[in-house]
Amino acid sequence: MNRILRFVLAVCVATGAGFGGPACAADIANGAKVYTTNCVSCHGANGRLDADNPVVQALGVTPADFSDPLFNSREPAADWHMVIQHGGYAMGLSEMMPAQSGVLDENEIEDVTAYLKSVVDTRGFPPGEMNLMLPIRTKKAYPEDEVVYIGRYTDQDGENAYKQVLEFEKRIGKAGQGILELVHESEGSVSELAEVEIGYKQALSHSTTHILSAAAVWAIPVEAEGDGELQTYLAYGKELSPAWIFQSSLRLKFPFAGASDGEAELAAIAHYVHSPWPRRVFPAMEVVATRPFRSANGDLEWTAMPQVRVGLTRGGHVALNLGVELPLSDQSWDQRYYVTLLWDFADGSFFQGW
Ligand code: HEC
Repeated sequence: MNRILRFVLAVCVATGAGFGGPACAADIANGAKVYTTNCVSCHGANGRLDADNPVVQALGVTPADFSDPLFNSREPAADWHMVIQHGGYAMGLSEMMPAQSGVLDENEIEDVTAYLKSVVDTRGFPPGEMNLMLPIRTKKAYPEDEVVYIGRYTDQDGENAYKQVLEFEKRIGKAGQGILELVHESEGSVSELAEVEIGYKQALSHSTTHILSAAAVWAIPVEAEGDGELQTYLAYGKELSPAWIFQSSLRLKFPFAGASDGEAELAAIAHYVHSPWPRRVFPAMEVVATRPFRSANGDLEWTAMPQVRVGLTRGGHVALNLGVELPLSDQSWDQRYYVTLLWDFADGSFFQGW
């Protein structure tokens, strides 16, 4: 489910609240009562799904198991709040999940959400609230399950150029992620599968308001020339306020042919989360500075990338990012245009919830 939205429950996401997690304004004991009265028939005692229960079998869709720590941790509390309040359909799930807005008041929804977050120990799992918007250049810190397509068109003197990247990223263990990327490039008459990239990312530190990860990626040339390179990066995400999110990454590229030919890239982005509904347009501004290790004049190259995230599905698990890159210092190109299509496959099939 969508990750950029923590409007309603900003203060009280209560990850692991039953296990000594952050203090939470919600009343978990009351949440347990609300749950037993209104939810237990479909979701099972203590949030543990009973798949053999005839009531559950009659639903035609199997609700997720809240006692699974991976599932429980990766779904932001604010998204659950939306599902409980407005029903499954509103967030791209089954309409068998009934809206509770006429049954429960705001506090009761908050309490039952906090209770659901407390039914299993999720320590060690990065919370889904930190599964933030995927920027164009800034590396994402959260180890989500994702398939991403990135298309880039460069408007330059001589031949215009196209680059396409297909990324497959999968959670490994509590806080790791495997990375596989295919890079295809075209310029003039040359069109080739340039590189395959294989990597691993690990979240080092996380809470419901910050995340820090480190990654290493090995870029292997396929048809392109060169010996390949090692890329390493640190990625950071931070909730500045419920509406403002900051992300930044520092990436170092070490070509195997000569590490001194490498470069450092610092990227940062701020995005504005103006609504708890995922199917909206969310604006963001990204700035990138790059510097070759062996630079003749030591100058940084700057570019600015205004962009928007467009949620396509009702729950936002399929989203577009559209952006333009504008050089702020001398470059061989005038503009670059980016289209990113992201499918968060932990939240359902590509065709669900449109
Ligand atoms: C009539 C059965 C039924 C009842 C009663 C019910 N639910 Fe659900 N709920 C479902 C189903 C079915 C789904 C799964 C929808 C899907 O995956 O498409 C669901 C999904 C959810 C989700 C979203 C989980 C996810 O996949 O991200 C939350 C949160 C939730 N329910 C909470 C509650 C709470 C809290 C209550 C009580 C106030 C409740 N439900 C009552 C059937 C029910």
